[in-house]
Amino acid sequence: GIKIVTIGGGSSYTPELVEGFIKRYESLPISELWLVDIPEGEEKLNIVGGLAKRMIQEAGLSIKVHLTLDRRKALKDADFVTTQFRVGLLEARAKDERIPLKYGVIGQETNGPGGLFKGLRTIPVILEIIKDMEELCPDAWLINFTNPAGMVTEAVLRYSNWKKVIGLCNVPVGMKMGIAEQLGVEADRVHIDFAGLNHMIYGLDIYLDGELFTDQYIDKLTSEDESSGTMQNIVDLKWQPEFIKALRAIPCPYHRYYYKTEEMFAEEMKAAETEGTRAEVVQKLEKDLFELYKDESLAIKPPQLEKRGGAYYSDAACNLIDSIYNDRKDIQPVNTINNGAIDSIPNESAVEINCVITKDGPKPIAIGDLPVATRGLVQQIKSFERVAAEAAVTGDYETALLAMTINPLVPSDTVAKAILDEMLEAHKAHLPQF
Ligand code: NAD
Ligand code: G6P
Ligand code: MN
Ligand code: MN
Repeated sequence: GIKIVTIGGGSSYTPELVEGFIKRYESLPISELWLVDIPEGEEKLNIVGGLAKRMIQEAGLSIKVHLTLDRRKALKDADFVTTQFRVGLLEARAKDERIPLKYGVIGQETNGPGGLFKGLRTIPVILEIIKDMEELCPDAWLINFTNPAGMVTEAVLRYSNWKKVIGLCNVPVGMKMGIAEQLGVEADRVHIDFAGLNHMIYGLDIYLDGELFTDQYIDKLTSEDESSGTMQNIVDLKWQPEFIKALRAIPCPYHRYYYKTEEMFAEEMKAAETEGTRAEVVQKLEKDLFELYKDESLAIKPPQLEKRGGAYYSDAACNLIDSIYNDRKDIQPVNTINNGAIDSIPNESAVEINCVITKDGPKPIAIGDLPVATRGLVQQIKSFERVAAEAAVTGDYETALLAMTINPLVPSDTVAKAILDEMLEAHKAHLPQF
């Protein structure tokens, strides 16, 4: 049978993953699921691990669930390693979100200064995990959910020799489900040509029942009463219709931070002063979720998990693993090495793009190039990710300042330095390289 290891197993998202494995058991016969965490996460691991065991028992399956703080023991002979850890927990995310606001800059988990710092904390850990994998499970696939997933994939491609890495995000599948819902059709009738970067992906064309439908969909999207499409963690501010018509592509929900910077900053300030930043809201959600998970009579994924931003997370992860295992050659959007798929992005960089998923991994479907209006921003974010990854690996202050300053959400080198200094101090417990 298949051995799966999930690092950050104490995450409240774990029941999503377990539900996905249960649903696909016939084609994806998992014999062992190892949930790995660290001492700070032990209590969460035990609670969510208990629920995972009850879900599997309720389904009548014989998947053996192991809970451990010993990553090396877990990794031995793994087939697939999924990662969903958060260095510094939600407390660190709350700092990523609050500190930039003081300087008039967006505070967000994966964008701007917050995204930079989540990367600085995460990249050294993922590279350590890879060292263990080289020794203990050299043939395994690494499927990384840990954010910032694009920057993390970039770092793995550039600073390790590990080839079997795939970065994964629920945004593309979320867009597809949202569009199908707007059109009132089953999701499998909709196809989207996706290309870009993680949290910066565009739907370049939309097809309905195999027929090109982009213009009709854009007419619908830009009509007055339609949502512009979003997820639980991003406020649904509407796009200017003329902007979308001229762009003739579908931006992802995260593009609001770039195309609506002022409005999103105002929304964040308002939230920070009222219900709290997203991390602070999620801290409460998480507490309630773990209260539910503790209930011994619960043996399913509770619907309350839908309040988190990770909807369809398990479909993305499980469909990917299933297609690799069964060599399905279907199309899924994932983060992988560009290899010429997008002309204006370096060959050796990570892109998020539709791929054919084979037993040898994802094969990106070449698009030529991105529309000219989107190209510059995508290249700038890619440059930011590269410089940020270099800073994470070297611990070099000047490189970190360079990354902060070239980020489009940061308005000046002086502001960049002030934010950098305060955040380096606030996060120093999780930044041993600096
Ligand atoms: P969380 O705060 O619940 O963290 C998950 C677990 O990671 C915790 O139990 C924590 O103790 C553990 N952890 C921290 N450092 C670790 C380490 N070094 N080794 C092993 N475990 C460690 O986080 P969450 O809200 O469930 O999110 C988990 C991660 O997944 C985050 O990085 C988040 O950004 C990411 N995420 C990504 C997507 C995506 O689209 N790619 C979707 C949802 C969540
Ligand atoms: C979306 C993104 C994830 C992100 C999540 C945040 O799903 O794709 O990358 O981690 O939202 O959700 P949260 O509930 O933690 O705010
Ligand atoms: Mn994501
Ligand atoms: Mn800037």
